[in-house]
Amino acid sequence: ENKSYGETVKEVTGSVHRLPLIKVQGVPLRCLIANNFDSISAFRPDPSDILIATYPKAGTTWVQEIVDLLRHDGDEEATRRAPTQERSPFLEIHYPPPIPSGLSRIEKMTPPRVIKTHLPINLVPEGFWENKCKVIYVARNAKDNLVSYYHFEKMTFIQPEPGPWDGYIHKFMNGELAWGSWYNHVKDYWMEREKKNILYLFYEDMQENPRREVERIMHYLDLSLSDDVISRIVELTSFKSMKENPMANYSSMPDIFDQSISPFMRKGVVGDWTNFFTPAQNQLFDADYTKQMKDFDIPFRTNI
Ligand code: A3P
Repeated sequence: ENKSYGETVKEVTGSVHRLPLIKVQGVPLRCLIANNFDSISAFRPDPSDILIATYPKAGTTWVQEIVDLLRHDGDEEATRRAPTQERSPFLEIHYPPPIPSGLSRIEKMTPPRVIKTHLPINLVPEGFWENKCKVIYVARNAKDNLVSYYHFEKMTFIQPEPGPWDGYIHKFMNGELAWGSWYNHVKDYWMEREKKNILYLFYEDMQENPRREVERIMHYLDLSLSDDVISRIVELTSFKSMKENPMANYSSMPDIFDQSISPFMRKGVVGDWTNFFTPAQNQLFDADYTKQMKDFDIPFRTNI
């Protein structure tokens, strides 16, 4: 079993890179996830487990780092024990062996565990709701989320090729990207947030006042840390600190991410969309957005 990652992917999928998507209940997912979906749905979390849910590129890694530091009293050494994907595994991720799946990582850990998912709410394993697990959702404004995803797909070997920018905008609007429609994702969690006691955060709020949002997460997790520790956590989870932190910047996954194409910690700002959307694309996107978000008053901001 000394096959390289590339060889194994090729055996499973017929191509080394750029895995195709397969729909699960109408949601396009990477084929390896779709093919293992039954085991994902059957996952039984512990009531103490915490779920961090996002549409891809909304600020997942940022909140994973904040939660890990909160749970370790701001101890930097403790959170440098391992890279993000080992400290808070990615629930649905499946790679060909020997890279461990999210589930196999989770099952080796003792609760309480911090688990990441990009699944839309209707595909989240029922056990999370039955056990009343704490769930933190992070949403990011559609245009910046789309720009970030576009760059991510260029550098992530196992995602489909993003193709030309203009077509990419249409794929996003049509819900054709991996993990499906951004619109349904943010709306469905929004609708359930009160009933299911989900902490619904915005990337833009975190940028505007990181301390306020770190404190919100702390209270939601029933933790109480000193002002100094909170300040330290805010500092350690700044974009600059995380970009330089090898345990938080995904430099540990060179088989999957080519950070010379685009770094995982790319820009970390609000409003980068203005550098990519032409006025015509913006107009078209806004018109479609109004339709898709009709009847939903989710307070997204595209600049702060
Ligand atoms: P950009 O591509 O716009 O720079 P995810 O973790 O969900 O994959 O999201 C990644 C996005 O969040 C990237 O956005 C990344 O730069 C940004 N990000 C990660 N850590 C951050 C931090 N500490 N502060 C601000 N943005 C951060």
